[in-house]
Amino acid sequence: MTKTAGGTEFAGEKAERLFSGQLSAEYEMLKLICPAAAAMSGRVGDFVAHMPAAPARPLNAVEIGCGTGITTLALLQAREDLVIAALDNEPGMLSQARDNLSAFIDQGRVRLIEADALAGLRALPTGSIDLVASAYAAHNFLEPYRVKVLAEIYRVLAPGGLFVNGDRYALDNTAEQTRLTQQEARHYFKTLSAINRHDLLEQWVIHLFSDESADHIMRLGPSLAAMRAIGFDPIDVRFRDGVNTLLTAAKPDA
Ligand SMILES: C[S@@+](CC[C@H](N)C(=O)[O-])C[C@H]1O[C@@H](n2cnc3c(N)ncnc32)[C@H](O)[C@@H]1O
Repeated sequence: MTKTAGGTEFAGEKAERLFSGQLSAEYEMLKLICPAAAAMSGRVGDFVAHMPAAPARPLNAVEIGCGTGITTLALLQAREDLVIAALDNEPGMLSQARDNLSAFIDQGRVRLIEADALAGLRALPTGSIDLVASAYAAHNFLEPYRVKVLAEIYRVLAPGGLFVNGDRYALDNTAEQTRLTQQEARHYFKTLSAINRHDLLEQWVIHLFSDESADHIMRLGPSLAAMRAIGFDPIDVRFRDGVNTLLTAAKPDA
């Protein structure tokens, strides 16, 4: 295993840490620059609220990239029969999640785990999880790492279990995707310049470059194809507005 400035490299499975430093310390600024993200957390919660109850036991969930706990909170509030193991590899995000979710941690409904997604999933038994939920985490992954995470999600899900992901899925039309990215960059400049936060602007623009880079970009078509190849069925796009997408992918019943 090699520790690098940006993350941990383990047999070529690189888990990056793109949310260290200022992005993590001031993550609440996301509300300003990407209001769609907060709305998506609510959508993930709403969808889960309407899933059928597990027979006479709590629904066993894993959240990938829980960050400061915005989506975790939406999930916990969506239904009382949900218990969550919430994974993130950024200590600065997890310490905020610890504060934001303290009541639920005390009730034993959520456990925060500092681990990268692939290692955290690999530690779980096959077929042991009813729901894997995530919001705006997978698009940060390097492509080969993401495909491995998807395969692990499939493995840990019980037959009939569901992956619910609210995320940034790039358009398959590259010219249209460039136009949306330019629009997004313009919005960052407008909102963060208006409050004189050029320091934060720099960080978010750099982050946007990472999201859009060839080795990270998560386009919808190839993502659906990768999930189909792993065995997920059915896969449904429940919401799409620009890049902001809610999709669900089921592990078929045995
Ligand atoms: C954009 S934030 C989203 C946070 C949260 N899901 C939300 O809805 O607000 C992405 C989160 O994914 C985490 N993350 C990124 N790569 C990860 C990895 N390989 N393993 C675990 N967590 C990761 C980051 O640390 C960050 O907290």
